[in-house]
Amino acid sequence: MILKDRIAIITGAGSGIGRGGAKILASEGAHVIVSDLSVQRSDETVEIIRRAGGSAQASPTDVTDDDALEKLIVDAHASHGRIDILHNHAGIQVEGSLEEVTAEGLDNSYGLNVRPHFVASKIVVPFMKAQGGGSIINTSSNSGVFYDKGMLAYITTKAAIIAMTKQIALDYAQHNIRCNALCPGWVDTPFNEPYIRQMGGREAIEAYVSKTIPMGRWATVEEIAESILFLASDRSSFITGHALVIDGGECIA
Ligand SMILES: NC(=O)c1ccc[n+]([C@@H]2O[C@H](COP(=O)([O-])OP(=O)(O)OC[C@H]3O[C@@H](n4cnc5c(N)ncnc54)[C@H](O)[C@@H]3O)[C@@H](O)[C@H]2O)c1
Repeated sequence: MILKDRIAIITGAGSGIGRGGAKILASEGAHVIVSDLSVQRSDETVEIIRRAGGSAQASPTDVTDDDALEKLIVDAHASHGRIDILHNHAGIQVEGSLEEVTAEGLDNSYGLNVRPHFVASKIVVPFMKAQGGGSIINTSSNSGVFYDKGMLAYITTKAAIIAMTKQIALDYAQHNIRCNALCPGWVDTPFNEPYIRQMGGREAIEAYVSKTIPMGRWATVEEIAESILFLASDRSSFITGHALVIDGGECIA
Protein backbone atom coordinates (compact mmCIF):
# COMPACT_ATOMS: atom_id res chain seq x y z
CA MET A 1 0.00 0.00 0.00
CA ILE A 2 1.63 3.20 -1.19
CA LEU A 3 -0.13 5.56 1.27
CA LYS A 4 0.11 3.49 4.43
CA ASP A 5 -0.48 5.66 7.53
CA ARG A 6 -0.72 8.91 5.52
CA ILE A 7 -3.33 11.43 6.59
CA ALA A 8 -5.42 12.97 3.82
CA ILE A 9 -8.09 15.69 3.82
CA ILE A 10 -10.43 15.99 0.84
CA THR A 11 -13.07 18.69 0.44
CA GLY A 12 -16.17 18.04 -1.66
CA ALA A 13 -15.63 14.34 -0.96
CA GLY A 14 -19.32 13.44 -0.65
CA SER A 15 -19.88 12.82 -4.34
CA GLY A 16 -18.33 12.38 -7.77
CA ILE A 17 -14.60 12.88 -8.19
CA GLY A 18 -14.01 13.82 -4.53
CA ARG A 19 -15.59 10.56 -3.39
CA GLY A 20 -13.60 8.63 -6.00
CA GLY A 21 -10.40 10.21 -4.69
CA ALA A 22 -11.32 9.43 -1.09
CA LYS A 23 -11.94 5.78 -1.97
CA ILE A 24 -8.68 5.26 -3.85
CA LEU A 25 -6.51 7.02 -1.23
CA ALA A 26 -8.10 4.90 1.50
CA SER A 27 -7.63 1.73 -0.55
CA GLU A 28 -3.90 2.49 -0.58
CA GLY A 29 -3.74 2.80 3.21
CA ALA A 30 -4.37 6.50 3.88
CA HIS A 31 -6.68 7.63 6.67
CA VAL A 32 -9.07 9.94 4.84
CA ILE A 33 -10.82 12.90 6.42
CA VAL A 34 -13.91 13.17 4.25
CA SER A 35 -15.23 16.68 4.13
CA ASP A 36 -18.33 17.83 2.28
CA LEU A 37 -20.98 20.48 2.70
CA SER A 38 -23.48 17.66 3.08
CA VAL A 39 -23.33 15.71 6.35
CA GLN A 40 -25.19 12.81 4.76
CA ARG A 41 -22.91 12.55 1.75
CA SER A 42 -19.81 12.82 3.97
CA ASP A 43 -21.12 9.93 6.08
CA GLU A 44 -21.95 7.87 2.99
CA THR A 45 -18.40 8.19 1.64
CA VAL A 46 -16.98 7.13 5.01
CA GLU A 47 -19.35 4.17 5.10
CA ILE A 48 -18.27 3.07 1.59
CA ILE A 49 -14.60 3.29 2.59
CA ARG A 50 -15.10 1.40 5.86
CA ARG A 51 -17.13 -1.33 4.16
CA ALA A 52 -14.17 -1.81 1.80
CA GLY A 53 -11.82 -2.17 4.80
CA GLY A 54 -10.37 1.35 4.70
CA SER A 55 -10.00 4.03 7.34
CA ALA A 56 -11.93 7.32 7.20
CA GLN A 57 -13.80 9.86 9.27
CA ALA A 58 -16.43 12.42 8.29
CA SER A 59 -15.79 16.11 8.97
CA PRO A 60 -18.54 17.98 7.13
CA THR A 61 -17.48 21.54 6.33
CA ASP A 62 -18.63 24.43 4.19
CA VAL A 63 -15.33 25.46 2.63
CA THR A 64 -16.62 28.99 2.00
CA ASP A 65 -16.62 29.50 5.79
CA ASP A 66 -13.00 30.43 6.60
CA ASP A 67 -13.30 29.60 10.30
CA ALA A 68 -14.87 26.20 9.62
CA LEU A 69 -12.20 25.40 7.05
CA GLU A 70 -9.44 26.36 9.47
CA LYS A 71 -11.06 24.21 12.17
CA LEU A 72 -11.20 21.23 9.78
CA ILE A 73 -7.46 21.36 9.21
CA VAL A 74 -6.35 22.31 12.71
CA ASP A 75 -8.54 19.60 14.28
CA ALA A 76 -7.26 16.99 11.82
CA HIS A 77 -3.69 17.92 12.70
CA ALA A 78 -4.44 17.88 16.44
CA SER A 79 -5.96 14.38 16.17
CA HIS A 80 -3.41 12.78 13.86
CA GLY A 81 -0.23 14.82 14.38
CA ARG A 82 0.32 15.35 10.64
CA ILE A 83 -1.42 16.06 7.34
CA ASP A 84 0.26 14.49 4.33
CA ILE A 85 -2.30 15.21 1.62
CA LEU A 86 -4.71 18.09 1.16
CA HIS A 87 -7.04 17.89 -1.83
CA ASN A 88 -9.01 21.11 -2.34
CA HIS A 89 -11.77 19.80 -4.56
CA ALA A 90 -15.19 21.46 -4.00
CA GLY A 91 -16.17 23.81 -6.81
CA ILE A 92 -19.02 25.43 -8.72
CA GLN A 93 -19.81 26.10 -12.36
CA VAL A 94 -21.48 29.45 -13.08
CA GLU A 95 -22.16 29.82 -16.79
CA GLY A 96 -22.41 32.91 -18.93
CA SER A 97 -20.53 35.49 -20.94
CA LEU A 98 -19.38 38.85 -19.60
CA GLU A 99 -22.85 40.35 -20.13
CA GLU A 100 -24.63 37.36 -18.59
CA VAL A 101 -22.59 36.68 -15.45
CA THR A 102 -23.60 38.86 -12.53
CA ALA A 103 -21.04 40.29 -10.13
CA GLU A 104 -22.59 38.01 -7.50
CA GLY A 105 -22.08 34.98 -9.76
CA LEU A 106 -18.47 35.96 -10.25
CA ASP A 107 -17.95 36.43 -6.50
CA ASN A 108 -19.58 33.07 -5.76
CA SER A 109 -17.31 31.41 -8.30
CA TYR A 110 -14.14 32.87 -6.83
CA GLY A 111 -15.55 32.24 -3.33
CA LEU A 112 -15.79 28.49 -3.92
CA ASN A 113 -13.33 27.72 -6.74
CA VAL A 114 -10.37 29.81 -5.56
CA ARG A 115 -10.61 31.31 -2.08
CA PRO A 116 -10.97 28.05 -0.08
CA HIS A 117 -7.99 26.56 -1.95
CA PHE A 118 -5.99 29.60 -0.79
CA VAL A 119 -7.28 29.50 2.80
CA ALA A 120 -6.82 25.76 3.28
CA SER A 121 -3.35 25.74 1.71
CA LYS A 122 -2.31 28.66 3.89
CA ILE A 123 -3.34 26.75 7.01
CA VAL A 124 -1.84 23.41 6.02
CA VAL A 125 1.56 24.65 4.81
CA PRO A 126 3.07 25.36 8.26
CA PHE A 127 2.10 21.82 9.34
CA MET A 128 3.63 20.33 6.19
CA LYS A 129 6.78 22.42 6.62
CA ALA A 130 7.20 21.20 10.20
CA GLN A 131 6.73 17.52 9.24
CA GLY A 132 9.10 17.72 6.26
CA GLY A 133 6.72 17.84 3.31
CA GLY A 134 3.34 17.03 1.85
CA SER A 135 1.20 17.05 -1.26
CA ILE A 136 -1.44 19.66 -2.04
CA ILE A 137 -3.79 18.96 -4.93
CA ASN A 138 -6.00 21.78 -6.19
CA THR A 139 -8.88 20.82 -8.42
CA SER A 140 -8.97 23.03 -11.47
CA SER A 141 -10.37 21.71 -14.77
CA ASN A 142 -9.27 21.37 -18.36
CA SER A 143 -11.27 24.62 -18.55
CA GLY A 144 -8.25 26.14 -16.79
CA VAL A 145 -5.99 25.48 -19.78
CA PHE A 146 -8.18 26.65 -22.64
CA TYR A 147 -11.04 29.01 -23.35
CA ASP A 148 -14.70 28.20 -23.86
CA LYS A 149 -17.52 30.41 -25.10
CA GLY A 150 -19.88 31.76 -22.45
CA MET A 151 -17.94 30.44 -19.44
CA LEU A 152 -16.25 33.57 -18.11
CA ALA A 153 -16.55 32.84 -14.37
CA TYR A 154 -15.65 29.15 -14.60
CA ILE A 155 -12.71 29.56 -16.98
CA THR A 156 -11.13 32.44 -15.09
CA THR A 157 -11.43 30.77 -11.68
CA LYS A 158 -9.99 27.52 -13.01
CA ALA A 159 -7.10 29.38 -14.68
CA ALA A 160 -6.53 31.27 -11.42
CA ILE A 161 -6.21 27.97 -9.57
CA ILE A 162 -3.50 26.79 -11.92
CA ALA A 163 -1.59 30.04 -11.45
CA MET A 164 -1.95 29.83 -7.67
CA THR A 165 -0.89 26.16 -7.70
CA LYS A 166 2.31 26.96 -9.61
CA GLN A 167 3.08 29.89 -7.30
CA ILE A 168 2.61 27.74 -4.16
CA ALA A 169 4.73 25.01 -5.77
CA LEU A 170 7.55 27.45 -6.43
CA ASP A 171 7.45 29.06 -2.99
CA TYR A 172 7.42 25.79 -1.02
CA ALA A 173 9.43 23.36 -3.16
CA GLN A 174 12.43 23.73 -0.84
CA HIS A 175 10.21 22.44 1.99
CA ASN A 176 9.36 19.30 0.02
CA ILE A 177 5.76 20.49 -0.30
CA ARG A 178 4.46 19.64 -3.74
CA CYS A 179 1.45 21.43 -5.15
CA ASN A 180 -0.26 20.29 -8.35
CA ALA A 181 -3.51 21.02 -10.16
CA LEU A 182 -6.00 18.34 -11.19
CA CYS A 183 -7.60 19.23 -14.52
CA PRO A 184 -10.37 16.81 -15.49
CA GLY A 185 -12.42 17.09 -18.65
CA TRP A 186 -15.96 15.70 -18.85
CA VAL A 187 -16.70 13.34 -15.96
CA ASP A 188 -20.23 12.01 -15.57
CA THR A 189 -21.13 13.23 -12.06
CA PRO A 190 -23.97 15.32 -10.59
CA PHE A 191 -21.75 18.37 -11.17
CA ASN A 192 -22.87 18.52 -14.82
CA GLU A 193 -26.61 18.15 -14.19
CA PRO A 194 -27.46 21.85 -14.62
CA TYR A 195 -25.44 21.96 -17.84
CA ILE A 196 -27.10 18.78 -19.14
CA ARG A 197 -30.53 20.31 -18.48
CA GLN A 198 -29.47 23.48 -20.28
CA MET A 199 -28.25 21.47 -23.27
CA GLY A 200 -31.59 19.68 -23.59
CA GLY A 201 -31.12 16.44 -21.70
CA ARG A 202 -29.23 13.17 -21.70
CA GLU A 203 -29.38 12.41 -25.40
CA ALA A 204 -28.09 15.86 -26.33
CA ILE A 205 -25.15 15.66 -23.92
CA GLU A 206 -24.19 12.17 -25.06
CA ALA A 207 -24.16 13.37 -28.69
CA TYR A 208 -22.09 16.40 -27.66
CA VAL A 209 -19.54 14.34 -25.72
CA SER A 210 -19.11 11.71 -28.45
CA LYS A 211 -18.59 14.45 -31.06
CA THR A 212 -16.43 16.91 -29.04
CA ILE A 213 -14.10 14.65 -27.08
CA PRO A 214 -11.43 13.11 -29.32
CA MET A 215 -11.67 9.83 -27.38
CA GLY A 216 -15.43 9.99 -27.89
CA ARG A 217 -16.57 9.50 -24.30
CA TRP A 218 -16.72 10.79 -20.74
CA ALA A 219 -13.97 10.05 -18.22
CA THR A 220 -14.96 7.69 -15.45
CA VAL A 221 -14.54 8.84 -11.85
CA GLU A 222 -12.07 5.96 -11.43
CA GLU A 223 -9.86 7.31 -14.22
CA ILE A 224 -9.66 10.70 -12.47
CA ALA A 225 -9.08 8.99 -9.11
CA GLU A 226 -5.96 7.29 -10.53
CA SER A 227 -4.52 10.75 -11.21
CA ILE A 228 -5.41 11.89 -7.69
CA LEU A 229 -3.55 8.88 -6.30
CA PHE A 230 -0.58 9.65 -8.53
CA LEU A 231 -0.36 13.28 -7.40
CA ALA A 232 -0.97 12.42 -3.74
CA SER A 233 1.62 9.66 -3.55
CA ASP A 234 5.40 9.37 -3.91
CA ARG A 235 4.84 8.10 -7.45
CA SER A 236 4.90 11.79 -8.40
CA SER A 237 7.67 12.68 -5.93
CA PHE A 238 9.54 15.04 -8.31
CA ILE A 239 6.43 16.61 -9.85
CA THR A 240 5.33 19.99 -8.57
CA GLY A 241 3.60 22.99 -10.16
CA HIS A 242 2.05 20.72 -12.77
CA ALA A 243 -1.46 20.99 -14.23
CA LEU A 244 -2.42 17.39 -14.97
CA VAL A 245 -5.05 17.34 -17.72
CA ILE A 246 -7.18 14.19 -17.96
CA ASP A 247 -9.67 14.93 -20.71
CA GLY A 248 -9.48 12.38 -23.53
CA GLY A 249 -7.77 14.97 -25.73
CA GLU A 250 -10.41 17.71 -25.54
CA CYS A 251 -7.95 20.54 -24.92
CA ILE A 252 -5.78 19.65 -27.91
CA ALA A 253 -8.64 19.20 -30.39
N1 LIG B 1 -17.48 16.53 -13.16
C1 LIG B 1 -16.80 17.15 -14.11
O1 LIG B 1 -17.07 16.99 -15.31
C2 LIG B 1 -15.66 18.07 -13.74
C3 LIG B 1 -14.74 18.42 -14.73
C4 LIG B 1 -13.68 19.27 -14.40
C5 LIG B 1 -13.56 19.76 -13.11
N2 LIG B 1 -14.48 19.38 -12.17
C6 LIG B 1 -14.30 19.95 -10.84
O2 LIG B 1 -14.50 18.97 -9.84
C7 LIG B 1 -15.14 19.57 -8.69
C8 LIG B 1 -16.45 18.89 -8.35
O3 LIG B 1 -16.80 18.01 -9.33
P1 LIG B 1 -17.51 16.61 -9.03
O4 LIG B 1 -17.74 16.04 -10.37
O5 LIG B 1 -16.78 15.85 -8.02
O6 LIG B 1 -18.91 17.18 -8.44
P2 LIG B 1 -20.09 16.54 -7.57
O7 LIG B 1 -21.26 17.42 -7.82
O8 LIG B 1 -20.21 15.09 -7.84
O9 LIG B 1 -19.56 16.74 -6.07
C9 LIG B 1 -19.30 18.00 -5.55
C10 LIG B 1 -19.41 17.92 -4.04
O10 LIG B 1 -18.96 19.20 -3.54
C11 LIG B 1 -19.78 19.51 -2.43
N3 LIG B 1 -19.77 20.94 -2.17
C12 LIG B 1 -20.44 21.91 -2.84
N4 LIG B 1 -20.25 23.10 -2.24
C13 LIG B 1 -19.46 22.89 -1.17
C14 LIG B 1 -18.95 23.70 -0.14
N5 LIG B 1 -19.24 25.02 -0.08
N6 LIG B 1 -18.17 23.16 0.82
C15 LIG B 1 -17.89 21.82 0.80
N7 LIG B 1 -18.36 20.98 -0.15
C16 LIG B 1 -19.15 21.51 -1.12
C17 LIG B 1 -21.17 19.01 -2.81
O11 LIG B 1 -21.98 18.81 -1.66
C18 LIG B 1 -20.84 17.72 -3.55
O12 LIG B 1 -20.92 16.58 -2.71
C19 LIG B 1 -15.31 21.04 -9.03
O13 LIG B 1 -14.20 21.76 -8.55
C20 LIG B 1 -15.33 21.02 -10.55
O14 LIG B 1 -14.96 22.27 -11.10
C21 LIG B 1 -15.51 18.56 -12.44
